[in-house]
Amino acid sequence: MHDLGIRFVRVGEFAWSRFEPEPESYDFAWLERFLNLVNEAGLAAVVGTPTASPPKWLVDSMPDMIALDKNGLPRAFGSRRHYCFSHQGYRVKCQQIVTQLAKAVGNHPAVHAWQVDNEYGCHDTAISFSPAVRIRFRQWLRERYESITSLNEAWRNVFWSMEYRHFDEIELPNRTPTDPNPAHALDFRRFSSDMVREFQRLQVDILRQLSPGRAITHNFMAGFTDFEHFDVAADLDFASWDSYPLGFLASFPLFSEAHRSHFMRSGDPDLVALHHDLYRACGKGRWWVMEQQPGPVNWAPYNPAPLPGMVRFWALEAFAHGAEVVSFFRWRQAPFGQEQYHSGLNLPTGEADSACGEISQLKDELSLFAGEETQRGDVALVFDYEAAWAINIQPQSSEFVYLNEVYRFYRAARRLGLNVDVVSQEGDLAGYRLILVPPLPIVRPEFVDALRRSTGLVVFGPRSGSKSSNFCVPENLPPGALQEFLPLRVLRVDSLPRFAPKSLEWGGKSYLAESWVEQVASNLEPLARFEDGHGAMYAHERFLYMAGLPGDQWLADLIKMLARKHELRVIELPDGVRTRRRGALRCFFNYNPSPVQLSGLEGVDILLGNADLPPAGVLIARKSQPR
Ligand code: GAL
Repeated sequence: MHDLGIRFVRVGEFAWSRFEPEPESYDFAWLERFLNLVNEAGLAAVVGTPTASPPKWLVDSMPDMIALDKNGLPRAFGSRRHYCFSHQGYRVKCQQIVTQLAKAVGNHPAVHAWQVDNEYGCHDTAISFSPAVRIRFRQWLRERYESITSLNEAWRNVFWSMEYRHFDEIELPNRTPTDPNPAHALDFRRFSSDMVREFQRLQVDILRQLSPGRAITHNFMAGFTDFEHFDVAADLDFASWDSYPLGFLASFPLFSEAHRSHFMRSGDPDLVALHHDLYRACGKGRWWVMEQQPGPVNWAPYNPAPLPGMVRFWALEAFAHGAEVVSFFRWRQAPFGQEQYHSGLNLPTGEADSACGEISQLKDELSLFAGEETQRGDVALVFDYEAAWAINIQPQSSEFVYLNEVYRFYRAARRLGLNVDVVSQEGDLAGYRLILVPPLPIVRPEFVDALRRSTGLVVFGPRSGSKSSNFCVPENLPPGALQEFLPLRVLRVDSLPRFAPKSLEWGGKSYLAESWVEQVASNLEPLARFEDGHGAMYAHERFLYMAGLPGDQWLADLIKMLARKHELRVIELPDGVRTRRRGALRCFFNYNPSPVQLSGLEGVDILLGNADLPPAGVLIARKSQPR
């Protein structure tokens, strides 16, 4: 590891049955031996708490710690993540094992950081419908609403005779014949997210006390919105996430077959970058890639090998986005268990696999980033977990998926060569010349304040401001609180199937709106109209509202026009090429399976690569210093 330039090694995240083979009989000697070795080799360790994989004896000792899925079926023992975040007894067992682990190795010189648990929510496990959850949910509601009358009022339970007399009558919002009350469902999502945070806090508190001076993180996932990551990350020292570019391309529902085939061995050019920027925001600037694909994985519908050079490419791109560390999953391919087809840096025999060569190349290249700070980006993109929940609870069109829309807004800006910063509703909008707000149903008062203080141009996707925090249509109709900025009211929505988009005219060109179109009443003259004459886009002062979900071309042309108007430096990039600035460096990445020629490199010193960018090619340049 040392020879390859590796500095950190993660260990222990699933090792509960070896840490505590029998109830309350612990064995950390093997871990200490390992940490001594790590220290001697000049490496440092990230130790995982093993709570994602409670052993069989533990499950048998309290079978009700098992999570129940939405059909009420228990998750069975035999893989991982079978626990329920709310179960008090399981939480106590987690506190015990983390206490013992931290006492054993918390002050070992090789321990650099802790990873709490592993990928909360992986395999669809953030939300459980168990009896333990029901007890805790009722308590949570009691704390939130104090009286059942206020809950009935907030949820508008008069609808369909859903009124409750006591908190103890409230059930979980699953297995109802048709959709449950959306206000109930939304509070349940908020509650479930709070449970993840509470669960993590118990471990964080112990680690802070028993292992002082060590950073604490968690490895989050891609495309996952089942809990509020900004909240959960707030208790950590840095965020980290697990990046599997080819697995995502093959399994995310976003992409066409042609797109999947073109980028089969390099990954989608924007999806991974979006997550780099998201987790940079969650970690308040501090983030790692905790796991990066080193070759084929095992879990997607098909698992191709990356292009030669891709492992290095992905790592360089993460550093261009400001990562502090990129770590690879895994060191050695496991010839047993569930992930036998998952490659490692080494074969099961310990012989180097192909990624090792690429990693040793990184050893020298990474010094290029030293001292280059990640500065504020050109564009702010507002990302909101509650928006994902609200749209998922009542989408009104199955085509309307929050993450897809965020991704499309992100891609439109990134294709122009702009650096995008993800911000939450509580984030700071100051200084951004362009602020993109993908559909944001529930607008919080803090965000309205931030909008008042902002000075940039703000683009709202449709359905923004369409719900109150209790999931009702706002009294003044959508966009609710945003009417302060946009004098318009949305009277009705027309949600469209994929096979029947609506067209509109704008700037002499014809475009498509997809899945969601609104009818707006306003004295403002629309900037563009749909084919049926209804307004498609409205602007008032520095605020712009899209009354339909833009097709890709509409979004691309709009953002390009706005970026130019606001003097952001737009770069014409060849298809499949992306760029990112970090400090004085500008990096270019060729995702195509064929070479491209970069132009416009006058006035820069090329530090890495050259303008003939091969597949998986990276070019890093710095503005020439005046001689
Ligand atoms: C991650 C997980 C790892 C491993 C990996 C396989 O989701 O954290 O433990 O399963 O995927 O790609």
